[in-house]
Amino acid sequence: MTRVLAISGSIRAQSFNTALLHALPALAPEGMTIEVFKGIDELPHFNQDLEADVPASVVRLREAIQAADGVIISTPEYNRSVPGVLKNALDWASRPYGQSSWFGKPVAALSASPGPQGGGIRAQEELRSQLRNLGAYVVHGPEIAVTEVHSRLSVDEQARVTLNDPATAGMAKFLLAALDDAVRANTGGTHVKSLGAWMTSLAG
Ligand SMILES: Cc1cc2nc3c(=O)[nH]c(=O)nc-3n(C[C@H](O)[C@H](O)[C@H](O)COP(=O)(O)O)c2cc1C
Repeated sequence: MTRVLAISGSIRAQSFNTALLHALPALAPEGMTIEVFKGIDELPHFNQDLEADVPASVVRLREAIQAADGVIISTPEYNRSVPGVLKNALDWASRPYGQSSWFGKPVAALSASPGPQGGGIRAQEELRSQLRNLGAYVVHGPEIAVTEVHSRLSVDEQARVTLNDPATAGMAKFLLAALDDAVRANTGGTHVKSLGAWMTSLAG
């Protein structure tokens, strides 16, 4: 069993990125569950002054990431970058120093935009760079940047979302399989073993 936490970089009610995450369970390998996290809109702006007594919303995010075997993030692109709400969530979960929830965590990243060009790839690149810097194991690919995302998703009467574009759905299957492989092989843990030892040696 592989438990995956899905985080959308958009808090918009009709978000295409959130909808895309809801389409993923149907494409997941056997034994993988995907739960979409709700609550990054409840996080306060990151402020080191709040770290002494962290808000419940922050604890909930950190615990959800820590309890998951892997994380998948779908981000929109805002002005060629990651939306502030997502960056805020990355920052909160990166603390306290030395106890980052991202450290060694296998993470898959994708992006989506209703625009005809790019599919949010610039935001996705930034997201991948930030996650790598946090010691997450970022699944290499396939790199999925969905253009014209509104035309590739359909929603039925029960609000079930389907990714109806076979090419994108095929890539999503491979991305989820790669995330599953990383979890099962403990690639995340292996990846940060020496890095963790080095950080401990700095503290000591
Ligand atoms: C402030 C702002 C900046 C945006 N900048 C970009 C951009 O740089 N590239 C892009 O492809 N779309 C851009 N968009 C359009 C978003 O891709 C679009 O609003 C998308 O639907 C947001 O994702 P969501 O549907 O998951 O909320 C921007 C939208 C907003 C509100």
